Amino acid sequence: MILYFSGTGNSRYAAKKIAEVCDDEIISINQCVKSNNYGSVSSTKPLVFVGPVYAGRLPRIMNEYIKKVNFSGTRKAYFVVTCAQTPWQTVSYVKKLCEEKEFNLAGFNSIVMPQGYIAGGGTQPKYINDKVLENAKPKIQEIAKVIAKGKKLPKEEPGKAIMSKILNPIMYAIMIKAKGFAVTDKCSKCGTCADRCPMNNIKIVDGRPVWGDNCTHCMACIAGCPKEAIEYGKKTQGKTRYYLGDE
Ligand SMILES: Cc1cc2nc3c(=O)[nH]c(=O)nc-3n(C[C@H](O)[C@H](O)[C@H](O)COP(=O)(O)O)c2cc1C
Repeated sequence: MILYFSGTGNSRYAAKKIAEVCDDEIISINQCVKSNNYGSVSSTKPLVFVGPVYAGRLPRIMNEYIKKVNFSGTRKAYFVVTCAQTPWQTVSYVKKLCEEKEFNLAGFNSIVMPQGYIAGGGTQPKYINDKVLENAKPKIQEIAKVIAKGKKLPKEEPGKAIMSKILNPIMYAIMIKAKGFAVTDKCSKCGTCADRCPMNNIKIVDGRPVWGDNCTHCMACIAGCPKEAIEYGKKTQGKTRYYLGDE
């Protein structure tokens, strides 16, 4: 069973490719969280969790979902993360989670994919995103083949601790908030932002989005807006939005 969380589409893309190669079912954690579905998940095939790195760990919402859900049938779990540069020490937190859930960790691998964190100041021009995506594709296939054979993923050296241990809680306390989001006159009132928000944190009032307090900075709203009508303060003005594919 492949389970993914994704804001800008990278992890969804990787999860879908892994599901194809493994000929396995796929669950969107985004949809489960959105519909408050924390029901049991049963699988005889290994669990494959795919998600982005947020400040050197799994996104809190993904971690909470995994913690809350009762998994039955198999204890074997793979974790595949997508990131823009480095997963830092995400693997340490994945190991803790596996101990808690009594999962047998069959491997942790990271894939560098295009930077999606526009509100954090991270954007790249389209030609760079295209190149990074092309480079990621063979690694996704390699990982998928190893998982399909039921083998262990090659070990990766963990990165530095500073982001995962020290900066992660600081970022969640200070940065990871919806406060900066605002909609411009380009808004066509289509409601895509609210539909895509996994946290149900966007309400449509008089046709326009209004953000609440429960934001995980996944960037699905700002990056996925078809009119590029959402800004995050001034820092996103004129910057390339990156959004890969759809649900
Ligand atoms: C809140 C936030 C924190 C991030 N932190 C990191 C990080 O610590 N290291 C890194 O390489 N990329 C980081 N990124 C970039 C994402 O991990 C990367 O763009 C990922 O592929 C996005 O996956 P998605 O498209 O499935 O949401 C961060 C992105 C966000 C939105």
